[in-house]
Amino acid sequence: MAAGVPRIDGLESLGNPLEDAKRAAAYRAVDENLKFDEHKIVGIGSGSTVVYVAERIGQYLHDSEYSELVSKFICIPTGFQSRNLILDNKLQLGSIEQYPRIDIAFDGADEVDEHLQLIKGGGACLFQEKLVSTSAKTFIIVADSRKKSPQYLGKNWRQGVPIEIVPSAYVRVKDDLLEQLHADKVDIRQGGSAKAGPVVTDNSNFIIDADFGEIKDPRALHTDIKLLVGVVETGLFIDNASKAYFGNSDGTVELVTK
Ligand code: A5P
Repeated sequence: MAAGVPRIDGLESLGNPLEDAKRAAAYRAVDENLKFDEHKIVGIGSGSTVVYVAERIGQYLHDSEYSELVSKFICIPTGFQSRNLILDNKLQLGSIEQYPRIDIAFDGADEVDEHLQLIKGGGACLFQEKLVSTSAKTFIIVADSRKKSPQYLGKNWRQGVPIEIVPSAYVRVKDDLLEQLHADKVDIRQGGSAKAGPVVTDNSNFIIDADFGEIKDPRALHTDIKLLVGVVETGLFIDNASKAYFGNSDGTVELVTK
């Protein structure tokens, strides 16, 4: 551990147990997986946990022992929020078009099962998250322990599987999900008080949340949904993550590996 980088075991509480859990998971994930002399292209995901990943990498950037190497990292975002995290932490921004092969990517998740299959897209960033994570040699999940599924995906995350769709296809996809794939419930995600009408993604698409109850075969469900005309990507991330760090409110972290 470098002098200028705060030690994980000496961190002051943020005054919020959930934030302490997220920070503990993210800091451990960075410390144990980012190889400063090997990794050059780093994917930065979206959501509230990955904020601490960018913060931790930023701390290394400001440490004299690491700053030269970290200043050369190119960070690839998964959306608007992620792009700003990279810039706010003074890291170098790149695009997936320039760097289609990523060394390591970090991201949050909405639910994680014991085989590290994931539901993502609660923050509506799933397409770019999947593009970046599947372009990475190593993909690491950071989450608080609420995200750990007791068994099947869909048990904890009750909002349904997020699906990014082309806007003009929303009626067709909705009908197909209900009639062909027998979803229990299908909703076009709405902006709520922040926006009248549907959420529009960073790629100008809509999000459908489709409830299938507990998902016994996430790979098969992903494939079935992906075949529907109008679907851009699903929030089921299959065989992609290699490790998940789950933070607890007491600052301890559980690591699950493949
Ligand atoms: C964004 O669309 C999601 O996939 C996020 O990665 C996920 O919702 C995790 O978010 P938190 O870190 O805020 O829990």
